[in-house]
Formats: sequence, structure tokens, C-alpha cells
Amino acid sequence: MRAITYQKYGPPEVLHLSHVAKPVVQDDEVLIRVRAAETTKADCEMRSFTFSVMWFWLPLRIAVGVRRPRRQVLGGYFSGEIEEVGKNVIEFSVGDQVFGSAGLRSGAYGEYVALPASYSIASKPANMSFAEAAAVPLGGLNALHFMRRARIQPGEKVLINGAGGSIGAYAVQIAHSMGAEVTAVDSSTKQEVLKQFGADHFIDYATTDFTTGGQTYDVIFDMVPRSSYSGSIKLLNPNGRYLAGNPRLSVMLRSSFTTRFTDKTALFAFARETKAELAALREMIEAGKIGSIVDTVYPMERVADAHRRVEAEQRVGAIVIAMDDRDNAGTERQSAEE
Ligand SMILES: NC(=O)c1ccc[n+]([C@@H]2O[C@H](COP(=O)([O-])OP(=O)(O)OC[C@H]3O[C@@H](n4cnc5c(N)ncnc54)[C@H](OP(=O)(O)O)[C@@H]3O)[C@@H](O)[C@H]2O)c1
Repeated sequence: MRAITYQKYGPPEVLHLSHVAKPVVQDDEVLIRVRAAETTKADCEMRSFTFSVMWFWLPLRIAVGVRRPRRQVLGGYFSGEIEEVGKNVIEFSVGDQVFGSAGLRSGAYGEYVALPASYSIASKPANMSFAEAAAVPLGGLNALHFMRRARIQPGEKVLINGAGGSIGAYAVQIAHSMGAEVTAVDSSTKQEVLKQFGADHFIDYATTDFTTGGQTYDVIFDMVPRSSYSGSIKLLNPNGRYLAGNPRLSVMLRSSFTTRFTDKTALFAFARETKAELAALREMIEAGKIGSIVDTVYPMERVADAHRRVEAEQRVGAIVIAMDDRDNAGTERQSAEE
């Protein structure tokens, strides 16, 4: 089968379209014919092995390969069709259309991936293309985890910092669907889309520092690693919650102090990405409460361009690689509403 592989850490040029052995399905696994995979910031970080938050560099490098990557096919989030099921699998049948997360195994940048049926894999939303569905699991699962932990009440004021990113865009939609008054902070190119997604207010981080505006919030969800922790905490109303999705070590240490000694809660987390959460996202999508925006769909041959576009930070929505020409490879800026 064809797969995008990398044998060393480095720039987008280390990615190559190769022929590799098709995975053999084990008894508790499903073999998925991948139709589309999201190209995420995390894929780019794993490829180059550079991170905006550095505290986990050494343990992660030891886990994934010191001199070269042990798993040579990237790709954590996908949509596709079940091609084969292991003999112990009862949940899925051949031909089922699914979307999900490959977890730490990765491998979604190939035409086929074999994964345990117990992984976060669920039926694809009926009202989405494969490209749109592949753009859901990373952002949707992480945003849903954090927005549920924020215990948002209708009418509360919620600020999302980094609202135009893969995770932030779902946080805006989910907070809006929970009845919050949402303020989105990102660059101006994303304002229109974020307003469509339910943001009531927009702050352009290039021209305005949201920590100096005087407005206060019940919840701040922060995906920006270099933002001001104390600046955010001082904007929280009594019983306010600060959630860090991309925390520096100093934020992790200071958050326990804030929670213990003030009337505010600060927490950081690594979302678990469960099957139940994926099914909840599908229901929200099919009910029209949330959607996905795909900026560009690239064919496998142009994976380096896909990574460059994610790293250039000029996209509005997700970057997707299509494994099959039927899946709109080459199309740009599709929205779920179109
Ligand atoms: N905690 C967890 O469980 C978890 C899970 C998955 C991933 N992560 C981490 O989360 C990070 C990626 O998140 P993502 O995929 O949502 O990233 P992303 O798609 O790259 O989005 C980041 C967004 O933040 C915006 N931004 C940049 N600087 C900003 C600033 N100073 N103020 C406000 N907005 C700003 C960017 O806008 P511009 O591009 O226009 O500058 C972009 O829209 C990765 O580092 C990954 O390791 C954490």
C-alpha cells in the first residue's frame, strides 16, 4: 500500500510517499481503509521534533525514538471505511464508514491502518464528507473534554484564546452550544468563520491584548503557550475557571497554587479522547450544532505542502490529506455549511 513515511526528524521534505506492507489485522482489531487524515500541528511537531512547550521533549524523544522515529507513518486523526474485522470484533462490520483517533499508534497517513476496535473509532457523521469528518476528532475530542471540565452554565462568559486553531474552533462551537457568551481571540483572518461558529465577540491578538481590556470572564480556555498566566487569572470572575490546553511547566506549577489558595480554579489536562465523546460529537454534528471547516485538501503526493501550510499559520480551518482522488484532493476552503 502507499503511505507517507519519514525516516528522520526534520523539515517537511523528510516526508516521502512510499510503498509499505499493508497492516495485518489482529483478532481484536479493525483494518480501516483511510479516506482522509487531518494534518495537525501535533503531526508537524512530531515530524520536526520541535515544540512550543519544551518540558516533555526528553521523555517523549525516548518514547518515540532517540535517533530516528520508531513509527514511520504519522497521522493521528482520520476518516475511512472498515475493510476487515478481527475475529473478536463485534462492534464494526466491513463497509462501515468511520472516523476517529489512531492514538499513540499513529499511522493514518497510509492507505490502510489497523487499530484495536476499542480505540476512539465511531460511525462517521452522515452529513459530512470524508474530508470534513477527518477534521473533527482532534479538535472536537480535545475541545469537548475541556469544555465539559469547565462546567459551563448558560449565560456564562467564556473566552477562547487561540480560537481559530484545530482545537479552539471546536471549543467556540461547543461553548456556544452550551449557552455561553463566547469571546474568540485569534488573528483577524479567522474572525468571519469564528462568528459563524457562534463567537459573540472577537479580539485580534495582533492589535489587542485581551488581558488589558477590562472585561472579565467565567471561563478562559487557553491554547496559546506563551500567553500571560497572571493576566488571564486576574480576568476571572469569582469561581472562574482557567483551563490550559498547551501549558508551560511554570503554568502547571502555578495552577495548583491558584486552585488551592484563591476562589478560582486553574487546571491543565491531556484529553483522554474517548469513544463516548466521539459519539457525542457525531450527535452534535448530525443535529447541526457544530461543524467543520476544511481549508485545503491535499493529495498524498503533496504532503510536504500540507505540512508547510499548517506551519505557515495562514489557514482558516483544517488541512486534510485525501488518500483517494474521489475525496476532493486539490479543493480549497470548503465549509460544512456549503
Ligand atoms: N492538552 C491536550 O490534550 C492537547 C491535545 C492535542 C494537542 N495539544 C497541543 O495543542 C497544540 C495545538 O493546538 P491546535 O491544534 O489547536 O493548534 P493550531 O491549530 O495551530 O491553532 C493555534 C491557534 O492559535 C492562534 N494563535 C497563535 N498565537 C496566538 C496568540 N498570541 N493569541 C491568540 N491566538 C494565537 C493561531 O493563529 P495564527 O496561526 O493566525 O497565528 C492558531 O489559530 C499543539 O502544540 C499540541 O501539542 C494539546
